[in-house]
Amino acid sequence: MSFGLKKAGFKLVQAYDAWDAAVETYRENVGHHVWRHDLNDIMGVGSMLAKLQPDMIAGGPPCQDYSLAGRQEEGENASLTKAFAMLVVIARPQWFLMENVEQVARSSAWAEAREILQRAGYGFTECKLDASYYGVAQARKRMFVIGRLGERDGFLTSSLIAARSDEQTTLRDLFGEECPPSIFLYPRFRRNKAVWLADEPAPTIIASSLKPIPDTHTVPEGTVVLTEGQVGQIQGFPADWKWHGQTKHDRMQMIANAVPPPLAQAIGRVILQRESGESIPAVQGNFTRWLMQRGQSNQVARNTKAQLQRARRLLGGRTFADVRLEVIALEEMVEFEELDRKVKSNMRVAVRLYAEFLDSSMQRVKAQKLDLAA
Ligand SMILES: C[S@@+](CC[C@H](N)C(=O)[O-])C[C@H]1O[C@@H](n2cnc3c(N)ncnc32)[C@H](O)[C@@H]1O
Repeated sequence: MSFGLKKAGFKLVQAYDAWDAAVETYRENVGHHVWRHDLNDIMGVGSMLAKLQPDMIAGGPPCQDYSLAGRQEEGENASLTKAFAMLVVIARPQWFLMENVEQVARSSAWAEAREILQRAGYGFTECKLDASYYGVAQARKRMFVIGRLGERDGFLTSSLIAARSDEQTTLRDLFGEECPPSIFLYPRFRRNKAVWLADEPAPTIIASSLKPIPDTHTVPEGTVVLTEGQVGQIQGFPADWKWHGQTKHDRMQMIANAVPPPLAQAIGRVILQRESGESIPAVQGNFTRWLMQRGQSNQVARNTKAQLQRARRLLGGRTFADVRLEVIALEEMVEFEELDRKVKSNMRVAVRLYAEFLDSSMQRVKAQKLDLAA
């Protein structure tokens, strides 16, 4: 995830993992700012982070306790999801980014972590993304939570949708002319599909993906079993990436654990564009129809929407969980101050009406958590 964020333009200042092999791999390929440390040490890590004052904390708390391959019971690892939330609350960065398996959305660990973060003032965009629509030759679906202080939930949804490609990235897109016609990837469950064609993305890479083809399996001629490096490429890593780890299983575990760098890069870019005010959230739902149902004419409703968008541009794309703070933020802006009195009043009304619209449709918007992996 760090590697992808770095490519998006983030400056990395500190990284942690408790596993030597992961730390070595990070140090050699990404940078020396990595520490082997147990992230359950909330006091120790928290005080380091509080001193560093990062603008963002990103993490992928271990997922075995929720993942399909795991026991589906919440155990010790799930506590790291809460540890992540607590570290964010201690350091209080503007942004956080968390990755996990889809099942985390229904876990009690995330429910608790979510509450901790919400109470600390973070707004969320919770989304399920499919890496193959973000430049990765793998149909890997994962849950991402992007939080920013003070925002309204869903604040980044429209930008994540805009960053998604229309087509999936295929194995041929990745390997080019060298791409074998078909590859064998050992399936999670025996009866699942195991042979993948060049014109499709690979399935989710797991630690056992490289187990050899069993004798009981017949595969089309020309089907190959990939190397570790090639599986790393399917996860979006460069061909010359150095994987540390004593055993093949360790290295495969590390590859399978990773957030594909191109996906992290795409999300990182969306975050930076919003941070710099280059991207403005799209107006959600059918705001104009709602205004017309409340008695505005078509023309007035369209003007109201235009004033809202103007306010959003002035605010550099920020949304506010509390509309009173949004109006205050507008009023503090010199550009706003210089506008005609009537325009200012129309903008305030537009912002308030939109907040009312969102609140009235909040249940619907909440139910519609972004699923771009469907
Ligand atoms: C799902 S992987 C995330 C991989 C990687 N951070 C990324 O962004 O691609 C979870 C990682 O958490 C690490 N981990 C597990 N328990 C930990 C702990 N108590 N403290 C720190 N890291 C831990 C594992 O070694 C593993 O590398």
